[in-house]
Amino acid sequence: MRGFCLLLAVLFCTCLGVHRENFRTCDQSGFCKRHRSLQPGNSDYVVQASSLRLSKTSLMVDVLNTKSDVRFLLQVYGLQHGIFRVKLVEAEPIRQRYEIPIGVTLVAEPEQAELVYHGEVSGQLKFSLGDNQMVINTNPLRIDFLINNEPVSSLNAQGLLKFEHTQEKKGWFSSRVSSLFSFVSQPFRAKKEETEEGVEGEEGAVQEDEKPSDDERDAGMWEETFKGFTDSKPNGPTSVGVDIAFPGFRYVYGIPEHADSFALKTTKSTDPYRMYNLDVFEYELYNPMALYGHIPFMVAHNDKHTVGVFFQNAAEGWIDIQSNIADKSVFSNLADFVTGNNDVPQTDTHWFFEDGIIDIFVLLGPGPKDVFKQYASLTGNTPLPPLWAIAYHQCRWNYNDQDDVRTVDQTMDKFDIPFDVIWLDIEHTDGKKYFTWDGSRFGDSVEMLRNLSSKGRKLVTIVDPHLKRDDNYETYTDARNQGLLVKNKDGHDFDGWCWPGSSSWPDFLDPKVREWWADQFSLEKYKGSANNLYVWNDMNEPSVFNSPEITFPKDVRHLSGVENREVHNIYGMLVHQATWDGLLKRSNYKERPFVLTRAFFAGSQRSGAVWTGDNMGEWSHLKMTVPMMLSLNLAGIHFSGADIGGFFRNPDSQLIARWYQAAIFQPFFRAHAHIDTKRREPYLLPEDHMIIARDAIKKRYSYLPYWYQLFYESETTGMPPMRSLWMEFPSEANIFEKDDEFMTGSAILVKPVTEEGQTSVSVYFPGKDVVWYDIDTYERYVGQEERTVEAPLSKLPAFQKGGTIVPRKMRGRRSASLTHNDPITLIVCLDKNGKADGQVYVDDYHSYEYRQGSYALSHLSFHNFKLENNLVHLGKDFSTKEWVERVIVVGVNTEPKNIHLIDADHNKVDLSHSYDSQTKVLTIRKPGVNVAQKWIINLH
Ligand code: NOJ
Repeated sequence: MRGFCLLLAVLFCTCLGVHRENFRTCDQSGFCKRHRSLQPGNSDYVVQASSLRLSKTSLMVDVLNTKSDVRFLLQVYGLQHGIFRVKLVEAEPIRQRYEIPIGVTLVAEPEQAELVYHGEVSGQLKFSLGDNQMVINTNPLRIDFLINNEPVSSLNAQGLLKFEHTQEKKGWFSSRVSSLFSFVSQPFRAKKEETEEGVEGEEGAVQEDEKPSDDERDAGMWEETFKGFTDSKPNGPTSVGVDIAFPGFRYVYGIPEHADSFALKTTKSTDPYRMYNLDVFEYELYNPMALYGHIPFMVAHNDKHTVGVFFQNAAEGWIDIQSNIADKSVFSNLADFVTGNNDVPQTDTHWFFEDGIIDIFVLLGPGPKDVFKQYASLTGNTPLPPLWAIAYHQCRWNYNDQDDVRTVDQTMDKFDIPFDVIWLDIEHTDGKKYFTWDGSRFGDSVEMLRNLSSKGRKLVTIVDPHLKRDDNYETYTDARNQGLLVKNKDGHDFDGWCWPGSSSWPDFLDPKVREWWADQFSLEKYKGSANNLYVWNDMNEPSVFNSPEITFPKDVRHLSGVENREVHNIYGMLVHQATWDGLLKRSNYKERPFVLTRAFFAGSQRSGAVWTGDNMGEWSHLKMTVPMMLSLNLAGIHFSGADIGGFFRNPDSQLIARWYQAAIFQPFFRAHAHIDTKRREPYLLPEDHMIIARDAIKKRYSYLPYWYQLFYESETTGMPPMRSLWMEFPSEANIFEKDDEFMTGSAILVKPVTEEGQTSVSVYFPGKDVVWYDIDTYERYVGQEERTVEAPLSKLPAFQKGGTIVPRKMRGRRSASLTHNDPITLIVCLDKNGKADGQVYVDDYHSYEYRQGSYALSHLSFHNFKLENNLVHLGKDFSTKEWVERVIVVGVNTEPKNIHLIDADHNKVDLSHSYDSQTKVLTIRKPGVNVAQKWIINLH
């Protein structure tokens, strides 16, 4: 145990920064070095056009590597919504390469669309898909994608395609090794029978002179060592990689998660951006190191087009990026586009993964909204969360016992600070055995849950995927006895260290294991839980303290025989999905679950929220929340947030107050802190800062109707709730790099204060002919101007766009669950033409009934001095008590003489109002109309 504590101290001591040496650099990774050292030039891959086979929606053609003589199969599918799918696989692999099954990243088999073949001209095979074209250059292989005949992306333009084909190691050693590990190399073959002996010892029988040569070892082909850990590579080199160019694009975005700027940087003098789910302690800012989750989805944007590339591969990946002026030698065939213009920018990217296949989706927009819809059509949407889940969450490592929970709950009420959820970290368990409670501190968890429930509040408990190897721990023994645990390379249950000490991990790759895991959340199994208990999955990269790079060794095996190397980046997502399924099952598929995860992959959005892990209570980390969340939102992870206040360190109360403000308009709103930090619940702040934090939380609550509507939009259209400026103003080239401001939906512009002592900020207001209004004072600003805005500590600079209508709820309540029937205030900000539009979406806020049509959606529009509410949808049996208690119209130049309402029954009712000629704000009092009815307010 002493050794373990020492290990923890080394790994998690709070006094040091990131331990870079725990994580590989590209130079320390064989396949990364092999790909990175390739030089642009003529590719060895040639398309054998005579082998072209066509169907209505796809093509298949042979590709030969002229150097190795290995044959590949290129398949291209036309998909709905303007997407091309390009797959390159070995024609005759000696073992099957891993392909991610449908339902894991892809929500379903993508729907195909007609791919029209236009024939071969001078070695080019030409195709079209709607308004888009694809040209396959045959010798060497290069695939260009064009929107309306304008090239926007190209695969293998630099000739960096490299597909390490499956091979046997030459000589006795290789046949010995490959037979020893043949069960590993057949992912879909029947599961190997478990033997307790494993294969240890046999490896030792290999003679010195038959081991990999030094050269091979150096290149990391058949064995690789990092920090004393040896990665046995039974299948040898298996990587795949290709370059993807974006001609005409200066900026690319996405591939979260990195603590870096939103517009991705050139990696000329750094490592490539790394994608390998890792638990990186005290991560550093502005570098391309891997973090907890990854999404191999990149978006290129310029003033004309937005295109996306999703590289579906679950293995470790790296991406190099260079932004240049277009290289005409490489793009000679795209000459139409580049001739005569020396300033055409281009971004060249180079992607390589340790295993798997090449499976690339090219999303041809052409605008931001189209790309988000396309990406959602592949990997799924963010399901609408229950209302309480987008309200305020109070977390810390740890709330000590039931008394502590009660005190926090009561003190928040005493200080009039709303909150919906309190969280319990690992210390609530009996010895870090998840699904259990520490009886001395949480002896009556059901009573605790009941107390919370009386105010509409919830509890979230942490459930990590490591299971303590303890014969008295039923979850573990059950998993062990049923053979559900991940194996080490020798076939034994993998044994690694995490919070409980010696642990094993269920194999979430196996659907049967996921089902077993989901069952653990039933009220019968999870004793002491209740229906208002929800879940937090942490350490699911997974984090393994005594393993290379603090995660699974790459050669651990999943139950189907695949190595973790092939699937590493989807493990954490499957933990999350299985937990989500568990909560769904618990309510018999009636209630919307809530599960937070740290590790994620493409598709994680389908099972709840993600947070950015262990950030620091420092100003620079507050600033970093914006680019990190923009990047997550761009890549489909809409329900995301950062620990308010920062996880490590003791931030001062000014920083905490500013952090609460910035987070009002970020999707997931949770404060959290490390166990060694001072307590910092908002009521503990000095009074002036407590008031600021409280005002921020209350403001978040007042905007919940708007937030909820944005999540409804996210589920139905794929639009992220948190957006970069260019997503709303796509042709304004000067904002493409901007990541210190952001939009929440299309109505609110936010410029958080992220520097100590700052009392004013410079805000860029985007949009030609657009007007903006300060959300507190209604001061007016005009678009395409940079202005200095006062920002004393009490003030978050945020602005509503002219032309929008935003619903708010202004009644203070203790929790969001108590606001369901509260009246609405409509904030109508007029554009230059005196018009505005908006929506109100209402349902029961917690169940799936809305998917059966049980909701009301109305469209609000203000024009010609009248505000109209028109129902877009009203569920047959749906009704709501929500009514409009106030309408604030901003930008009204002259006071109307009178105002009247025409209600749903055509009654005419006079309404009272007030008008401020200074601010040009008109307040209409108590229209009293239901939000789910048709009505009109006339201003004369
Ligand atoms: C690491 C997580 O990132 C952090 O949020 C949590 O408090 C600790 N694990 C303890 O569970």
